[in-house]
Amino acid sequence: MSEEIKKVNDLKSMIINEINNANDLVTLKAVADKHLSKKSELNSLMSLIKQLSGDEKTAFGQAMNNARKELNELYQAKEKFLNEAMIRAKLEKEKIDITLPGIKYNVGGINPFFKIIDEMVDIFTSMGYQVKEGPDVETDYFNFERMNIPSNHPAREMQDSFYIDNNTLLRTHTSPAQAHAMDEADAKPLKIICPGKCYRRDDDDATHSHQFGQIEGLVIGKGINLGNLKATLELFLRKMFGEKREVRFRSSYFPFTEPSVEVDISCMECQGKGCSICKGTGYIEILGAGMVHPNVLKMSGYDPEVYSGFAFGVGIERVAMLRYGIDDIRKIYQGDVRFVEQFKRK
Ligand code: DAH
Repeated sequence: MSEEIKKVNDLKSMIINEINNANDLVTLKAVADKHLSKKSELNSLMSLIKQLSGDEKTAFGQAMNNARKELNELYQAKEKFLNEAMIRAKLEKEKIDITLPGIKYNVGGINPFFKIIDEMVDIFTSMGYQVKEGPDVETDYFNFERMNIPSNHPAREMQDSFYIDNNTLLRTHTSPAQAHAMDEADAKPLKIICPGKCYRRDDDDATHSHQFGQIEGLVIGKGINLGNLKATLELFLRKMFGEKREVRFRSSYFPFTEPSVEVDISCMECQGKGCSICKGTGYIEILGAGMVHPNVLKMSGYDPEVYSGFAFGVGIERVAMLRYGIDDIRKIYQGDVRFVEQFKRK
C-alpha cells in the first residue's frame, strides 16, 4: 500500500471513530461539517495525486472514492439512527396510559328559561321571523299608551307595575317591544319575535314571580288575517309540545288586539281527558294573541285600511314548566345546580 493511500485510510479510520462516537445530532453534524465538506482535510489529500504515477493514481483515486462513499454512508446511517432514537425517546416520554381514568370536566346545564327561548327562536326564525329586543325600562307611553291602554283604562290594574318615576317603569309585558319595532320599521311589513323579561308587583308563589319572561310575536303586512294567526300558532305549539296537541282558540280581550283570543293546548298529561294538571278541563291555557288593534297600527304609523297584523305573547316560564314538568316557578331562578343539571345537553 502506498504511503499516500495509507494516509487516506488512517484519516478515514479516524473519521469513522468520530462518527461512531457522536451520540447526538449536533455532534454528528459538527463531524460532518469538519470532515465531509468540500474543504475537508480528506479532500485536501487529493493534491497528493500529483506526485503519483499512472497505476498508483488509479489506486489512490479508488481509495479516495471508497473512503468518501463509506464515510457518507456511515454518516447517513448514523444520522437516521440518531433521529429515530430521538423520536423514540420523545414518544417514550409522552407515553399515555389509556387505562388510567380520564379527567372529568364539569359541564353545566342550561337553565330551562333559556332553553325555551332558544327553541322558540329556532322555530320562529325557521319561519322567517327576525329577533328584536326592547328595553326593560320603559316609559308609560310605550308600555301602556302605545298598546292602546290609556291612563284611565282598567287593564292597567291587571298589570301592577314597578314605577321608577311617574313616567318610567319596568315593563309589565314585552308588548311595547312591538311599538319600538314598528317605529323602526317605518310603516313597512314586519315579522318579529321579541324575547325578554317583564316585571309585575305580583306576590311570588309557585306560579307567579315579580320577574318573568315573555316572548312577543308580531306580523304586519297586507292581507294578514286570523287564519294566518291560527296556522302560525298551531304550528308553533305542535313543534313545542308535540304533534298530537289539539290547539283551541277562545275569544278573549286584550286592549291592543281586536279580535283577541286565548289559546289552549290539549293536556299532555291526560291527553284531553281531564286531570289535576288541566284542572279537569282537558286543556291548558298557553298564550294570548289577536289581530293588532287598528289604534295600535295607527299610532305606529300604519294605515289600518292597508295593513293588518297579528300579535301574540307567550310566558316563557309557563312553557318551561309545562314542557319539563316543573312544579314551582321559583326553581327556575334559584340557581340550584341539582335543578339545572337536569337540563344538560345530551
Ligand atoms: N301582553 C299580554 C300580557 O302580558 C300578552 C299578550 C296578549 C300579548 C295578546 C300579545 C297579544 O301580543 O296579542 O298579558
